[in-house]
Amino acid sequence: MADELHTIIDLIRYGASRFNAAGLTFGHSYDNALDEATQLALHALHLPHDLSPVYGQARVTLAEKEEVLGLFLRRIEERVPAAYLTGEAWFAGLSFKSDRRALVPRSPIAELILSGFEPWLGGREVTRALDLCTGSGCIAIAMAHYRPDWRVDAVDLSEEALSLAAENRERLGAGHVRLLRSDLFSGLQGERYDLIVTNPPYVTDDETDALPPEYGHEPELGLRAGADGLDLVLRILRDAPLHLTDHGLLVCEVGEAERAVHRLLPELPLAWVEFKVGQMGVFVAERRDLVAHNARIARLAAEREAGAAPSAGLF
Ligand SMILES: C[S@@+](CC[C@H](N)C(=O)[O-])C[C@H]1O[C@@H](n2cnc3c(N)ncnc32)[C@H](O)[C@@H]1O
Repeated sequence: MADELHTIIDLIRYGASRFNAAGLTFGHSYDNALDEATQLALHALHLPHDLSPVYGQARVTLAEKEEVLGLFLRRIEERVPAAYLTGEAWFAGLSFKSDRRALVPRSPIAELILSGFEPWLGGREVTRALDLCTGSGCIAIAMAHYRPDWRVDAVDLSEEALSLAAENRERLGAGHVRLLRSDLFSGLQGERYDLIVTNPPYVTDDETDALPPEYGHEPELGLRAGADGLDLVLRILRDAPLHLTDHGLLVCEVGEAERAVHRLLPELPLAWVEFKVGQMGVFVAERRDLVAHNARIARLAAEREAGAAPSAGLF
């Protein structure tokens, strides 16, 4: 069988067919079998990811073929996300190191970074920005890369994620990004930001338990977020006003948990971002609106914090 595969394009086509036949789940970086087979084949062949298609007809050696087929096999048998097999993921046009210490970067917030968070910032000046729940550091480092005038902090609870973020900071020459270990805002007393961007865990318990095997290679701390996916989001909504400047903005990804946000907080004014591909469960909130609704948000957050006494709110 492998004797019949001669060229790069033969290998890519074969890999894509095997991936589809095996019923793999895509969506960590690329959303289809052909792109993933291309990514893995070019990685194994030590060729650039944007190789001209004319090289598709180039023949491979036996040793190269074995390398490529070995990666395909791991993708199929172990269901490892392709980015963990290549050790690399692209985000906002930048190449990040990716491994099991943090989720594979894939947030639609990349598009907002590239558009300078306009029209949401509306020309507001940003001096300090925070990436809460930074994982691999992708959002913080991309913000710092495209806006070197911003002072960017990045927070995560996981030491492992922070060690990967530190390697990415080095890789992308973003030494000025400050990395901090903190349970959400708890380690940020007194710190205020013009822009807080967050892609927190927001997958419901039921959905986490039913995720395809690919997601089992990612740290669960980055995914699981309670019965309705809002355990962390409610804490973020409650505490963000203390860490936003008067005209500050919160940008938060909640994915499918958007429905739960509408159900719990129907009156909170949130602007749901329209991306090139449509809505992706990312909202923008103004500090003043979070302050106005703080009592209700704090009550909802307290209700789900085991043993916590109901709180009257912070404002
Ligand atoms: C969905 S991942 C997002 C990672 C990264 N921002 C991205 O877009 O790829 C969520 C991250 O939140 C972190 N996290 C989970 N609970 C946290 C907490 N209580 N405080 C801070 N970070 C937390 C996880 O370790 C994980 O890295």
